[in-house]
Amino acid sequence: MKKILFVFAIFSLTIVSCGETKKEDVKKEIESPKKEEVKEAPKAAAGDDVVALGEKLFTDKTCVSCHQLDAKIVGPSVKDIVKIYEDNNASLVAFLKGEKEAIVDTDPGQVAIMKANLDGFVKDLKQEELEALAAYMKSAK
Ligand code: HEC
Repeated sequence: MKKILFVFAIFSLTIVSCGETKKEDVKKEIESPKKEEVKEAPKAAAGDDVVALGEKLFTDKTCVSCHQLDAKIVGPSVKDIVKIYEDNNASLVAFLKGEKEAIVDTDPGQVAIMKANLDGFVKDLKQEELEALAAYMKSAK
């Protein structure tokens, strides 16, 4: 009787361990496609991060107080700016760096308002921050 019990015990151990192996295999199969997804994620996130940073700067740096998405307030709307920049194949970053003249609103009074910002605080922004602002404006149009 003892022998039978012993054999039975080994038998059930074998079943249990086989079961575990199978479970692990299944786990691996489920996990492996996920790993590939994770590899892709940072790329997409990087783009989103730049736009998110740009959106934050657009508010923090008071751009939003003169530029709304759709409507002209003090300055032209973001949509108008981006459209004219795209039509002219011009660089928002170059304008913000003070390297290029205004092309959207060339009225001297208006240009002076924006120029005061460029000379005041925009010149202190880093290249990445200017690029983020440009990326946000392009994404928001
Ligand atoms: C005090 C109001 C004011 C603030 C703040 C302001 N702008 Fe402007 N912006 C203007 C006015 C007015 C114009 C129109 C004159 C012009 O086009 O240069 C303008 C024009 C622009 C243009 C178009 C330039 C062109 O080629 O004509 C861009 C791009 C721009 N602003 C980006 C920004 C960004 C980015 C910020 C924040 C860092 C900002 N502005 C903050 C008033 C402002």
